[in-house]
Amino acid sequence: MSLERELVDLAARTAREAGDLARARRSEGVHLAATKSTLADIVTEADREVEALIRERLQDARPGDGFLGEESEAERGETGITWVVDPIDGTVNYAYGIPSYAVSIAAVRGDAVPGEWEALAAAVYAPVSAEMFTAARGHGAFVGDTRLSVTNETPAGALLATGFGYDPATHDGDLATVRRVMTIARDLRRAGSAALDLAFVAAGRLDGYFERGLKPWDHAAGALLVTEAGGTVSLIDCTSARPMLVAGGTEVHRRVLDVLRDET
Ligand code: IPD
Ligand code: CA
Repeated sequence: MSLERELVDLAARTAREAGDLARARRSEGVHLAATKSTLADIVTEADREVEALIRERLQDARPGDGFLGEESEAERGETGITWVVDPIDGTVNYAYGIPSYAVSIAAVRGDAVPGEWEALAAAVYAPVSAEMFTAARGHGAFVGDTRLSVTNETPAGALLATGFGYDPATHDGDLATVRRVMTIARDLRRAGSAALDLAFVAAGRLDGYFERGLKPWDHAAGALLVTEAGGTVSLIDCTSARPMLVAGGTEVHRRVLDVLRDET
């Protein structure tokens, strides 16, 4: 079996177990553990417990790999492979009881820095719908056993998704970007989980997605889903504090970049 397939099997197995734990904990009630960068940026006890489970499973299976997760300390590995993990992407949805949340697990090679790594395997698991999105580099993207491909034709304009950072000081700028991008959109979604937004682009349920200021674990798995589904993903303004991620079919991706290029 190729390394990529081995990694994706491990990612999917782990994401399913982790997602089922998150769902079970949700049914027992949500316990806020802390706020992070701002009051809106929350972490629940389940986020921490689920990340600990994922970390343990990955470490047991591949002890030499590195780890970069949202809720615990990063660790450099010795194999050149790092697991980039968001235990619950869509934590605010999770806290409110909105079903759009997911476990996101990616295996990347090289420096664990977006734009520099090479993503090898990805699993995004949405426990409420029980949908498992997977991709292995060079082997395509799937939901369950069904192969995914991005959309390309958008005669009515693109159905796009985005998200906003937790810091209120960034909202004006993000809304100005939305105003600009709406000129090429048929409509816009803000569902609250970047990992699922990217999985939906891969699945052709959205034509494209853009967001500023994502963290590595928000997009590591989803970006590989999109590229393995035939789409394009770019991270622009990498030197800024809030780089912009743009994903979509080739044409939609190009059109979003074009309108953003004019941004002042
Ligand atoms: C957030 C979600 C959201 C996106 C935010 C992320 P979290 O991740 O992906 O959709 O707009 O930028 O921080 O906090 O739920 O893991
Ligand atoms: Ca996240």
